[in-house]
Amino acid sequence: MNKQTIALAGGSGHLGSLIARALLAKPEVRLRLLVRPGSGGKVAGLVAQGAEVVEGEIGRNDTAALSRWAGGAASIISAIQGGPDLIVEGQTELLRVARQSGVRRFIPSDFSLDMFTVAPGRIVTSDWRRRFADLAQAERGPVEVVHVLNGGFLDRGVLFGFINVVNPQTQTAYVWGDGKQTMHWTTYGDTARYTAEAAADERPVPRRFAIAGDALDFWGIVAAYEAGSGKKLKIQTLGSLDELDARITELVKGGQQNFGAFLPLMYYRAMLRGEGRLDPLMNHRYPAIQPTGVRAYVERERL
Ligand SMILES: NC(=O)c1ccc[n+]([C@@H]2O[C@H](COP(=O)([O-])OP(=O)(O)OC[C@H]3O[C@@H](n4cnc5c(N)ncnc54)[C@H](OP(=O)(O)O)[C@@H]3O)[C@@H](O)[C@H]2O)c1
Repeated sequence: MNKQTIALAGGSGHLGSLIARALLAKPEVRLRLLVRPGSGGKVAGLVAQGAEVVEGEIGRNDTAALSRWAGGAASIISAIQGGPDLIVEGQTELLRVARQSGVRRFIPSDFSLDMFTVAPGRIVTSDWRRRFADLAQAERGPVEVVHVLNGGFLDRGVLFGFINVVNPQTQTAYVWGDGKQTMHWTTYGDTARYTAEAAADERPVPRRFAIAGDALDFWGIVAAYEAGSGKKLKIQTLGSLDELDARITELVKGGQQNFGAFLPLMYYRAMLRGEGRLDPLMNHRYPAIQPTGVRAYVERERL
């Protein structure tokens, strides 16, 4: 079998480690990780399963390390997390190395709703990702740049945590407005599996590669949770969508110290307004993946 090397940055992180495992499960893939000095211990399990490691850091102009990492790779995946210095400048550095190394495909760290249909200023982290995407269009040369779009993560930490649509502890679901727009949700694990398939695919992959585990409006999420858990949720309406706008504006005026408070509201606002919706979905490209929906996740995790 012809093996192909896939180079992954962020393999010590939450999503990145799942992408690494999905790649290691593919017999045709040789996995090479870019790992920051001091983070080697976090990838010991992946190394034990056969991953190679190149020590290096994005944003330090360490072209020699990045070239060793990218050299001979068919695809590069970035699952890093950070501010515009990393998402815009750092990933531009990765794209440059990809081009110089003859890499076929680059998957940047998007893993979000469709940031191309979210208006500027509405979600600060989407602005950075769109800025990188625009730069990449101009600078990519023959490298295919593929944006993996999965909506929100359907897991404890996001749908049931960061964005807090449903709080399993208080048995409450929270909504602004009428909650009637369809939203997309995909687990970390399924997003990682689709990303691994897209990276290893010998065929061209669409620039906006959208996949989802479930497509539900707020009321559909409530129904799926109740069916999966056998529990009845309290519904708390927090205000109208205009009131949500006003709340976000007020938090943003308070400055960066409110980042952790306004960012989840920005994501939820976009979803409640139908912005960033995924269309068309491309799950069918990889039919072996049967993604988990909200009801099945709640059942499995006993939420
Ligand atoms: N759609 C959603 O609902 C949703 C929710 C959460 C996250 N996301 C997205 O998912 C992606 C991954 O997030 P995550 O939560 O998995 O991130 P994470 O757990 O914080 O991991 C970040 C990774 O980036 C690495 N990294 C950071 N700075 C680096 C640098 N300068 N050079 C090299 N590596 C560096 C970290 O390495 P160290 O181990 O050395 O720190 C770590 O491996 C991001 O794009 C994030 O926005 C989406």
